[in-house]
Amino acid sequence: MTGKLMIAGGRPLRGTITISGAKNSAVALIPAAILAETSVVLDNLPRISDVGIYEEILTELGAVVTWDEDSMRIDPSSMKSIPMPNGNVKKLRASYYLMGAMLGRFGEATIGLPGGCNFEPRPIDQHIKGFEALGAEVSNEGGSIRIRARELRGAKIYLDVVSVGATINIMLAASRAKGITLIENAAKEPEIIDVATLLNSMGAKIKGAGTETIRIEGVDSMRGCRHSIIPDRIQAGSYMIAAAATRGDVLVDNVIPKHLEALTAKLQEMGVHIYEMDEAIRVVGQPEYESVDVKALVYPGFATDLQSPMTSLLTQAKGVSILSDFVYNNRFKHVPELVRMGAKIKVEGRSAVIEGGVLNAAKVKATDLRAGASLFIAGLTVPEGVTEITGTEYIYRGYENLVPNLRGLGAEIWVGEEE
Ligand code: EPU
Repeated sequence: MTGKLMIAGGRPLRGTITISGAKNSAVALIPAAILAETSVVLDNLPRISDVGIYEEILTELGAVVTWDEDSMRIDPSSMKSIPMPNGNVKKLRASYYLMGAMLGRFGEATIGLPGGCNFEPRPIDQHIKGFEALGAEVSNEGGSIRIRARELRGAKIYLDVVSVGATINIMLAASRAKGITLIENAAKEPEIIDVATLLNSMGAKIKGAGTETIRIEGVDSMRGCRHSIIPDRIQAGSYMIAAAATRGDVLVDNVIPKHLEALTAKLQEMGVHIYEMDEAIRVVGQPEYESVDVKALVYPGFATDLQSPMTSLLTQAKGVSILSDFVYNNRFKHVPELVRMGAKIKVEGRSAVIEGGVLNAAKVKATDLRAGASLFIAGLTVPEGVTEITGTEYIYRGYENLVPNLRGLGAEIWVGEEE
């Protein structure tokens, strides 16, 4: 789906929203299937454009991919090692997982440097450091990363930066290395546990995923299995924030409440009423909110991917809030767009200083996925007029069925033709 998003805001969101599988798990689990010799079935996949692009990439590599509702069957038995310098790999940031997966299965990979949401330079030096430690030779050939190893050997790898992508990429390659790999200072995000769970079901021997030390004992071969993807905590968090921002009452269903603890705590500090159940969270908005300070950190801290949506909610609080991002240096491309909508926000270094007030309708542009989320949330709060959001291709990368979902919650949102 393309076209601009049109929103006549000012209506409280009410009802139930069911959250799909996690995008950032899906884009790692699909390439992980390359390591198996028989079919892997992934259940609860989100129908988002990133998943569609990965399906095309795997098909180009010779895998047979079939769908049954929200389950994808990947038969990797006839896959070949083909260089992928251009094309679909450039459309997707997470195409970097092809490096670890193909290195593990074929001992080589040539992959064009990834595209996707480029809100700031996002280096992959820690991924490369990991592959080299495992015995691979890595070179940059005209914008493609070429990786080769006669034999992958387990190693001790200390990550200089806590990186989700590097942690997963090293787990993928090390699963097929000889001997034991230790990843120190590993990322602890729930998506890492999800990938380790799949790899272990495929026959890998991984311990410690979700802690800062992950131990991987390499195995000679891996087999297919069936795996259900965890719910998308960022999609869930975005709907929680939208419910609060519109002073609505929404049950966000199919979530793991623990994955959202940092957000829940901040919403409560602002005065939002939250009711946690086993697999759902009810968010009840209030007429007035207190300003709060938020620091985006690695998991289990407040998620950087919810930083931009949270900016929009903080425009609805009384007084001045400070929102800082310690994961990325400058992930504030949504701020000038929110300012066009009348928000009073100043960016100072790693922080946005946000003064509460009413927003107005405007024509704005999403420049990356979560910037887009901040704009549709802001648009939902605007009491008069129609907000127009272009750049929606970014938003559809991460939010399954966004328009029908929001309409189901009572929002007046529709798709207009892009000029
Ligand atoms: N970094 C390095 N060197 C590296 C790797 C990362 O300096 O080799 C830096 C990055 O520049 C960044 C920080 O380390 O400042 C953390 O980056 P990380 O590697 O953890 O990010 P990522 O794996 O590329 C994933 C998510 C992002 C999310 C981050 C942080 C996927 C496909 N993407 O990216 O999600 O922001 O972790 O939690 O899993 C999104 O969903 O909108 C999104 C951007």
